[in-house]
Amino acid sequence: LVLFSIAIVGGYLLGSIPFGVLVMRAAGAGDPRAIGSGNIGATNVLRSGKKGLALLTLLGDGGKGALAVLLAWLATRDAPVERQAVVVALAAGSAFLGHLFPVWLGFKGGKGVATFFGTLLAAAWPVGIVAGAAWLITAGVFRISSLAALVAVAIAPAAALLLGRPHAIALLALFMALLVYVRHAPNIRRLLKGEEPRIGAGKKAED
Ligand code: G3P
Repeated sequence: LVLFSIAIVGGYLLGSIPFGVLVMRAAGAGDPRAIGSGNIGATNVLRSGKKGLALLTLLGDGGKGALAVLLAWLATRDAPVERQAVVVALAAGSAFLGHLFPVWLGFKGGKGVATFFGTLLAAAWPVGIVAGAAWLITAGVFRISSLAALVAVAIAPAAALLLGRPHAIALLALFMALLVYVRHAPNIRRLLKGEEPRIGAGKKAED
């Protein structure tokens, strides 16, 4: 129980670090919440025109999810696989929730795509690779970040099951995928109206 609690609280605190806000502030580039979609993620930081900051945001938001998984994995390395997967899934899910609802930003966080990939790549890398490939292919064809994310996260839970990952990991992927869809409600509305901006198109729609 102590381990479960540490995984949840530690995962949340790691996940709640808002890298998009921090790197833009550190670079004197303003606040991502004031531009584009208003989101704190790498896609929206890219709308500031600063590619390096967008990359740092992607690596930070993904990396914190991966770190939460790694720490949980290390803390349970002597445990049976299924139990280890439960602790890893708890830490990962909490990090993901931390990104979506960070206490530091009045619980108004991001949409979770980078953290989704970071946790999955660390917890079950083949699943992360499959979802990542889906993101790249969709983004390559349509040049829309949100659409690529919606396709990629929908594939991940099925990929986790088909690739024989523990049920806790498949459930984690499903849980995160559902929340990614909820957080992309404004994007889905814009996609249906054909108004979602393409990658590299600069700032446009408001959430
Ligand atoms: O990672 C979030 C992305 O899928 C959409 O971001 O800023 O276009 O709403 P944004």
